[in-house]
Amino acid sequence: MRILYIGGGFVGACSAAVAADSGHNVLVFDVDESKAKKLGSTDREAILSCIHEEGLPELLIRNRERITFTVDSQELAPFIEETEAIFMCLPTPEKDGAEGESDLSFYEQAVGTISPALKARQRGTQSRRIVIVNKSTVPIRMIDYTQELFEKQGVKNFGIVSNPEFLVEGRAVEDSIHPNRIVVGAHTPDDFAIMRRLYQRFFDASGIPYIEVNPYEAACGKLLANFLLFNKVVTTYDVVGRTCEYFTNVSFEQVRKILVADQRIGSWGLYDSLYAGGSCFIKDAGSLAHQLEQAGSHATLVRSSLEANVFQRDHWFSRAETEAKFDWANKSVAIIGLAFKYGTNDMRNSGAIGVIQQLLGAGVKEIKVYDPAAMDECKKYFRPEKNELYSRISYSVSEHEALQGTSAAIICTDWIQFKTLSETIKATVAPPYLIMDGRRIMQGQFAELQALGYDIIAVGAPFMKGHASPAV
Ligand SMILES: NC(=O)c1ccc[n+]([C@@H]2O[C@H](COP(=O)([O-])OP(=O)(O)OC[C@H]3O[C@@H](n4cnc5c(N)ncnc54)[C@H](O)[C@@H]3O)[C@@H](O)[C@H]2O)c1
Repeated sequence: MRILYIGGGFVGACSAAVAADSGHNVLVFDVDESKAKKLGSTDREAILSCIHEEGLPELLIRNRERITFTVDSQELAPFIEETEAIFMCLPTPEKDGAEGESDLSFYEQAVGTISPALKARQRGTQSRRIVIVNKSTVPIRMIDYTQELFEKQGVKNFGIVSNPEFLVEGRAVEDSIHPNRIVVGAHTPDDFAIMRRLYQRFFDASGIPYIEVNPYEAACGKLLANFLLFNKVVTTYDVVGRTCEYFTNVSFEQVRKILVADQRIGSWGLYDSLYAGGSCFIKDAGSLAHQLEQAGSHATLVRSSLEANVFQRDHWFSRAETEAKFDWANKSVAIIGLAFKYGTNDMRNSGAIGVIQQLLGAGVKEIKVYDPAAMDECKKYFRPEKNELYSRISYSVSEHEALQGTSAAIICTDWIQFKTLSETIKATVAPPYLIMDGRRIMQGQFAELQALGYDIIAVGAPFMKGHASPAV
């Protein structure tokens, strides 16, 4: 089949690559010229610099004959002539200051771009049916709005399908090849049939639930799944972590063993962190709250989860002053890890963003940052042209370089290579020195570091004052 993807980001690029790998002919249209060029290249490093996902370069390069990336809207018409499905993989961020309402402008703009080609198909008769597939995470009633948008443009003979994406960044390709479920929401048997052919690879596979529902249920299921997951991690950070912080001799890892032994609780999300970030959880919880309130319901728990997430990050940061009596003013500080989680270069809603802003607000002299994949992303967030304070951020080539000459290190991302960070710290900076471990990545070395005089403030633990260190 011929499939068109609109938007070649994490979702669009990864699912388009898997579609090509399934034997389909795929065109990916994006407005970002540099991204389209890199993803369309055979340069592994260029692809990874754009979307850091394990296995993506290999999959794209292997299927190069069946997948094309373009920014040229003129290429849409000839391709759409024979296309049966168009996947909409566009950003649906939260509108600025709108308490969760989705910004659908990317979507609306894309409808405007593809509609002329849709109307022109089959010499304007539009005789071949086509499905428009909402793969973006969208409001529950989006299907009606999508219908309206295309009809207004004069597009005919089309179906709208809701096919939410459940991949997890950091293992997006693996999740696209082996999804834990496929959810297809459609109105007509014809549209379900097109989707089954398109997803033949999964429809026939044993062990992958293929769930057919109506489009509202599909969109709703995605938002609710994300909220349940978000709520679980925030509960772990703000309730489990906080309990272990306020009561001495209660280790987070020991308590975790007790909790995860209960299969009803399960082990997913039972780790501690400074912030539940990423592109989806926060905006989708906000969107759910907004939709519930618009529908006349309350959204108390959803809003509380969002607040708890922010609270626990800010509370943790404040402990440097309140517990370690550390004064950030004029200090040089290392940030170890920028991505919202390991395995990705994505910094959307990363815990590090809030921490950097707090540090600048507290008057630090310099912030030395290091991340194995997200340095370019960080530069986009903190352009000195936007705010002169951002010139205080410098980019190091390694954790070792970032630590040199600093008075404190803040660990924001749990990259596996940071598991040996305590050794680098010991070899690079001497106490008095403050370590803020936002991931408990060094929990096995806390006692040793404390004995050597390092002060430690970790999520999910009381303040550990360095034994040999004088007051900071
Ligand atoms: N990232 C995830 O882990 C994930 C998982 C499940 C669902 N989702 C949902 O999928 C959707 C896309 O997320 P993403 O992470 O891939 O976003 P992304 O920002 O990585 O990618 C979106 C792409 O769309 C392009 N774009 C913007 N406007 C366009 C237009 N008018 N025409 C063509 N292309 C345009 C952008 O240049 C970008 O490359 C969102 O709704 C998100 O909530 C994301």
